Amino acid sequence: MSERVSVLFVCLGNICRSPMAEGVFQHLVQERGLADHFKLDSAGTGGWHAGEPPDPRSIRTAQHHGVDISEQRSRVLVPIDLERFDYIFAMDQSNHRNIIKRNPDGKTERVHMFLSLTETPDAEVPDPYYDRDDGFENVWRLVSAASEAWLDRISVEHGLRPSSP
Ligand code: 4NP
Repeated sequence: MSERVSVLFVCLGNICRSPMAEGVFQHLVQERGLADHFKLDSAGTGGWHAGEPPDPRSIRTAQHHGVDISEQRSRVLVPIDLERFDYIFAMDQSNHRNIIKRNPDGKTERVHMFLSLTETPDAEVPDPYYDRDDGFENVWRLVSAASEAWLDRISVEHGLRPSSP
């Protein structure tokens, strides 16, 4: 098999949005028989929660949709991530600016707004940290739509086919 396509999901704290995005995407590549083609990870532009599992509300929301994200651990984005990952997805504009700032050589073509392929391309995945549970459901809905759209795009760009069983 050729080299895996590497994808990094980035938000602020890496305990709410990007863990759910990684979980959705992982679930989707498994469903499509494409898991062997990918290396997935997530990170936060802030490191306050480094080493912690996702927020309990994120874990609960994912569990409700049949996805286990409880083993994920938060980590801070580091400059080498900008070179190591083929696709870097920012959940909001502030994340996007902070990712670009950490870019050592100024190249930005790998960094995308995660919702840019969805029906609301200018939209951001809202930070649900101070919300009630319904904010987390909304995030799940948004990152699911974005994951479907990006996986379609990446599969075409890289000519990916399901691995044989
Ligand atoms: P996330 O949400 O960026 O979706 O993980 C947040 C989590 C924690 C904080 C802010 C946003 N915080 O300030 O600790």
